Amino acid sequence: MKKNIESIRSDFLEKVNQVKSAQEFEALRIKFLGRKGFIQELFSSMPNINPKDRPKFGKQVNDLRKEIEKKIEELKAKFIKKKSEKILDTTLPGRMPFVGRKHPLTQVLEEMKRFFLHLGFSIADGPDVETDYYNFTALNFPENHPARAMQDTLFITENILLRTHTSPVQIRTMLQEPPPIRIIAPGRVYRRDTPDASHSPFFHQVEGLFVDKGVSFADLRAVIQEFAKYIFGEDIHVRFRPSFFPFTEPSMEYDFNCIFCRGKGCKVCKYTGWVEISGAGMVHPNVFKAVNYDPSLYTGYAFGMGIDRITMLKYNIDDIRLFFENDMRFLQQF
Ligand code: DAH
Repeated sequence: MKKNIESIRSDFLEKVNQVKSAQEFEALRIKFLGRKGFIQELFSSMPNINPKDRPKFGKQVNDLRKEIEKKIEELKAKFIKKKSEKILDTTLPGRMPFVGRKHPLTQVLEEMKRFFLHLGFSIADGPDVETDYYNFTALNFPENHPARAMQDTLFITENILLRTHTSPVQIRTMLQEPPPIRIIAPGRVYRRDTPDASHSPFFHQVEGLFVDKGVSFADLRAVIQEFAKYIFGEDIHVRFRPSFFPFTEPSMEYDFNCIFCRGKGCKVCKYTGWVEISGAGMVHPNVFKAVNYDPSLYTGYAFGMGIDRITMLKYNIDDIRLFFENDMRFLQQF
């Protein structure tokens, strides 16, 4: 049986006074105002009303709807208030807002830049996608020479590749500017490596290059030594070992005192007291020839640095993959 407007009104007015809980309130609201509620039902019955009575009927239904909505609104305030009073524990400590911060690699790179900018170096850069010429040939890697295999390269075409080191920026900079040159070139480099705790197919280097008249190996030593102290502390020393890179002669690899045992010997440095950092050396005359610098007038030193490696040592991080997984639990510690 269809309820008429008046009986719906009195039904509502009776029930509205009996509501005792949020659930009862919600049930009442749905019963009268819901999509299949009494008000909607009244509107749906409009086509059955004699057309001349429709405006009057419509107005009555609308008035009833407003009346019910008003009461429901008042009642809702009552229940919502009761509910929120129950959950709001004003003695709870506030929730800390999440503050974004810089990636640990960015933080360490900024520290490295600060050191070199103080010494008068400027920042240079070059593309990640390089040609074979800048990445190898101009750096005195002979064609088909096994030295190229030192760097497992990701090739795009036969002559285009993802740079395996930041050293090509040396060439790009020297081709653009005459000496003296004093630059660092931070950037991402790529190698065909399977990821594990100490390998990643991409990582980050800072290249250094200083070219002028009379630059000596002593200058290189001094700058690397000061860098070690700046980043890791006054008691950190540097050691150079003879090595080979095609673009430097002589070439070295350099180590720092182990950051953890300060040189006494521990697991991290395999009880040697030293940790390997990267390579360095005096710019090879063939590199100068490739950029039309006169090797009889100018000398220079160059060095590489691994940003990931230095960050891992600085914060005792034992897995390079942590830098690239973007797990907030890891990143939020820095
Ligand atoms: N490019 C070398 C590498 O990725 C590192 C390096 C060694 C850079 C000696 C230099 C250098 O500038 O002189 O392993």
